[in-house]
Amino acid sequence: MKFRILLTGKNGQVGAELEALLPRLGEVAAFDRHELDLSNPDHIRRAIHDVQPTVIVNAAAYTSVDQAEKEEKQAYIINVDAPALMAEEAKKIGAALVHYSTDYVFDGSRNLPYGETDQPNPINVYGKTKLAGEEAIRAVGLPHLILRTAWVYGTRGRNFLFTILRLATEREELRVVCDQFGAPTWSREIAKATGSVLVQLSQQGQDAISKFSGLYHLTAAGKTSWFEFAKAILERASRTPPGVAWFVAATGGHPFVVRRITPIATQEYPTPARRPAFSVLSNYCLKQTFGLELPDWRAQLDSAFADKQA
Ligand SMILES: NC(=O)c1ccc[n+]([C@@H]2O[C@H](COP(=O)([O-])OP(=O)(O)OC[C@H]3O[C@@H](n4cnc5c(N)ncnc54)[C@H](OP(=O)(O)O)[C@@H]3O)[C@@H](O)[C@H]2O)c1
Repeated sequence: MKFRILLTGKNGQVGAELEALLPRLGEVAAFDRHELDLSNPDHIRRAIHDVQPTVIVNAAAYTSVDQAEKEEKQAYIINVDAPALMAEEAKKIGAALVHYSTDYVFDGSRNLPYGETDQPNPINVYGKTKLAGEEAIRAVGLPHLILRTAWVYGTRGRNFLFTILRLATEREELRVVCDQFGAPTWSREIAKATGSVLVQLSQQGQDAISKFSGLYHLTAAGKTSWFEFAKAILERASRTPPGVAWFVAATGGHPFVVRRITPIATQEYPTPARRPAFSVLSNYCLKQTFGLELPDWRAQLDSAFADKQA
């Protein structure tokens, strides 16, 4: 079975990787913010009406964690109202919805990986909106996959990898938080895993998405802190040959001036939004249901650095 796919957020980290990968699974109509603005219900209705998808993949979201603290209404519109409307419209035409959520639905007060049945308790506005988005989709009762991922980076866009590489060209010392733990996940691996799940479902026929409908954690294996992640980035950066396009984009082609990287506590780096101290997710359900296990975060980072495609 080939899908007809409507993809939102095609310029985002995950969306851009999906736009490159999803055509292997069927026909894809991909939209950026300009073409399909999630804050405009008419755009959502019109795009779904025009494309008549069998699957909607919603890679668009309000993702500015700190800004959400002062733009709560806007974050709710994009992360809750829009996916709720997409779900309703999809249900009317018998389509399924694939949607992404976040490790930030958890408060981070424990130190064992969170499973899908663990109680969420978001501690910032972004996390609250993403959790409410999950609930809104479930409430519509259509075939859906909600894929919770974490600490996303890619070889384009705004992300921790790019921030560290840029700062390494500007500052002699980098001070990075060492008491928040998670699993940095490369956007390409998220797209690949999404594609693998959809391929498996397409091979199982019409009702497969209904049968396996639900919530799945989808993150890199392993865990680390922002500090260790930054160190791993700089180690790989020092071995990167000149001229790799995405690396030049990240550094602006400037040489590194960084001399040391210093671990600091969260309280030494105050931000508008609180972040969970521990948000590692168990991917047990993904493995049990689809036989999928994403590579360890270090291997993913190696692959991202080796990427010639970006
Ligand atoms: N980034 C992370 O660390 C992280 C962690 C956990 C979960 N997630 C989830 O993973 C998914 C993908 O995130 P990502 O990292 O790929 O995010 P991203 O790079 O910030 O991309 C989000 C995309 O959404 C688009 N968008 C924002 N507002 C929109 C609107 N009103 N209408 C249409 N499009 C709009 C953005 O458009 P522009 O390009 O025009 O800005 C951008 O292309 C999201 O559901 C996110 O919540 C992300």
